[in-house]
Formats: sequence, structure tokens, C-alpha cells
Amino acid sequence: MFNILTLNKIAAVGTSRLGDNYAYGDDVQNPDAVLVRSAAMHDMQFEDNLLAIARAGAGTNNIPKDVCSEKGIVVFNTPGANANAVKELVIAGLLLSSRRVMEGADWAKTLKGNGDAVGKMVEKGKSQFVGPEIKGKTLGVIGLGAIGILVANCAVALGMDVIGFDPFMSVTNALKLNPAVKLMKSGEDVMVNCDYLTIHVPLTADTKDMVDADMIAKMKDGVRILNFSRDGLVNSTAVLEAVKSGKVAKYVTDFATDDIIGEENIICLPHLGASTPESEDNCAIMACDELKEYLENGNIVNSVNYPALSLARTNTENVRFCVMHKNVPELLKKVLSEVKGNVENMLSKSRGDYAYAIIDVAGGNPENAAAIAAIEGVIRVRAI
Ligand SMILES: NC(=O)c1ccc[n+]([C@@H]2O[C@H](COP(=O)([O-])OP(=O)(O)OC[C@H]3O[C@@H](n4cnc5c(N)ncnc54)[C@H](O)[C@@H]3O)[C@@H](O)[C@H]2O)c1
Repeated sequence: MFNILTLNKIAAVGTSRLGDNYAYGDDVQNPDAVLVRSAAMHDMQFEDNLLAIARAGAGTNNIPKDVCSEKGIVVFNTPGANANAVKELVIAGLLLSSRRVMEGADWAKTLKGNGDAVGKMVEKGKSQFVGPEIKGKTLGVIGLGAIGILVANCAVALGMDVIGFDPFMSVTNALKLNPAVKLMKSGEDVMVNCDYLTIHVPLTADTKDMVDADMIAKMKDGVRILNFSRDGLVNSTAVLEAVKSGKVAKYVTDFATDDIIGEENIICLPHLGASTPESEDNCAIMACDELKEYLENGNIVNSVNYPALSLARTNTENVRFCVMHKNVPELLKKVLSEVKGNVENMLSKSRGDYAYAIIDVAGGNPENAAAIAAIEGVIRVRAI
């Protein structure tokens, strides 16, 4: 029986996948794992039996990852679970940046009370809300990860020419990208050649202010910029000035900040990217599946602090030792000398200062876990 503590409400469509062998809820004691969305965990004390924390969402700033790594607690997240939700809002943002929909809708409200004259007023006034079509225009996509790929592919389907850049694109992602998307040599190559620019990268020291005054100056006149990734990727002072001068025709962002709210040709949304019921469900399903796979089989998928490692179980009679240890020389050799029995299958991987091994032993004895745990540098051992 596994105990799962839920620190936030987790969609039942996820928890129902855990099965009969699980007790879960917000009052569960001595949890084997924690399911969390945004609850702050930095001040929490973790019991020695806590094996994992799964965050139903992408960011893990609410979890003390260093403490978890040191104690052998695997931290999971759910990358890509809300990608479709964000993609759909980006496409809405793309159209809002082009056609003057918001302005037109606001103006239409002012016609209320004009009775039969409304029709004529509309026909007379609508010319002020003309905006270009996106078909045939060039969209630049910076960052071709879970969201960027969906946006790029969708824009191709809408008839746009799409150019993109991602220096770390995985092979899996490359295979998902529509071949019509032209890969450029640098972010700048993308930014100076597009009519519409959308950014889908994480906010790091390297990406902060990637769109600043210098970069905007090199872009096409009348460029339209979308930021549905993070506040800080686009320098708001620079973009405000550029919008005022007409260099940037429109800026649409999912991150409303005081300095740009209400400015003409800037649309600020209140962080709505992942705000769909489907996105919440997808995160819950992914987080619960990740926990179940780790608790029952020791397999790690989508961890932010331990290496990704999955080993199929070929013989359920075997004892599976799951060993988390410091990433230091000779340690794995000492572990193998203590598992006894015959090692039938094994996988081992490191990530920074930490490493993880799954060792399937025919004729193994779960009690040998104690001898493995006693080796200096071993953080946690499970025999399952
Ligand atoms: N608006 C919202 O509600 C919302 C919701 C989810 C995610 N997001 C944000 O969207 C962004 C993208 O999320 P994702 O799920 O696609 O992440 P992801 O990790 O799948 O993709 C990010 C991509 O950016 C690439 N990258 C990193 N540095 C780069 C650089 N300097 N130049 C070009 N590419 C670079 C990476 O290689 C990766 O492929 C993140 O900032 C995330 O926080 C926003």
C-alpha cells in the first residue's frame, strides 16, 4: 500500500489511475509520495520514507530540489502537459496581433443605444480596424520545445512561412517538427527576418531580455511580437518604446505588468496560457502516472533532479534494487559486489552530483539492500 499526500486539489481523472493499492488525500500521514501543484514546500520537513514529489505542472520553484536530491527524493514535473492549451492561446494572440479585434469589439460596445442606426455606423466606422491576414507572412519561433513545435506546425497549417531556432532541440522534437519549418542558424537570424515573432524558451540568465532595444532595432519595421513564455524574456521598457514609435506594430503578452497595461497596441493577458480544464487534467494524469511508475517499478520519467532511467521488467521473480547514490568513482562497483545473485539486467545513469541505478538480480535477496545502503555515498536503496 502506498500513501500519497495531496497538497493541492489534483484532478480525479489523474488520482483515479493510481488504483486500489494507493491511499491518497490531504490528510494522509507518513506519505511515500506527494502530489502538488503550487503549494510552497520550502519550509516543509521531509520524513525519511518520502520517495518522490510530483508537481502537476511544469515549473518546480515551489519545491526545494537541492534538499530532495540530497535525501534521495525524486522530483517529477509534467512538461508538455499544457502545451496544447498554450498553443491555442498563442494562435489566438497571433490573430489578435494582426486583426484589430479587441479594438473593434471595444468600439462596437460604444454604439449601444443607437437603435436602427447601428448598422450604418458600423459600416462607416469599421475601416479604422483593418488588419493584415497572417497567410503568406513569416512567423519566427524561438524555442522549438513542447509548445514551440505545436505553434510552428499550426502556423504552417494556417499558410504561414515559418522559421525557427533552437540550439538544443532533441531528436524526438525534431521528428515532430513539420519539415516546412526552416531552421535558422541563430535566434537573431529568426528575429530579423520575421513579420511575427513568438518566443517559447525557459527564462534563464541566458534568455533574460533576449528581446531588448538593440534586438528590436534590427527587426523588420512593424513586426508583431508575442510572449506567452515568461515575463523577463522581452524587456518591457524597450517594447513599450518600440510600440510607441511604431517600430513594433503590436505586442501581445500573457504576462501583464504595470508598466504596459492599458497601452495602445499592447495586449496584456492575465497568464491564461494553461487555463483550460483539459490542461489541468493532463497534468494530473501525467503526475500520477510518473509516481506510480516510480513507486512500483523504480522507473524515472520526467524528473528535474534525478536522471531519466527506465528498465523493462523481464522477470517478476527477480529482485529489483533501485540505488540512488553520489556520482563518485568506484561506487557502483561496490554496490554490485553487495547485490549477490546474478545481475540479469542493469541500467545506470548520472546527473550532476547524483546517480541512479536499477539492478535486476535473479536469486537476489531483498535483505541485501541493508548492506548496499551502508556503502558510503549511497543515498537510498529500495528492493522491489
Ligand atoms: N503562458 C503560460 O501559461 C505557460 C504555460 C506553460 C509553459 N509556459 C512557458 O512556455 C515556455 C516554453 O515551454 P515548453 O513547455 O515548450 O518548454 P520546453 O522545455 O519543452 O521547450 C523549451 C525549448 O527552448 C529551447 N531553448 C532554450 N534556450 C534557448 C535559446 N537561447 N534559444 C532558442 N531555444 C532555446 C530548449 O532547447 C527547448 O527545446 C517556458 O518558458 C514555459 O515556462 C507558459
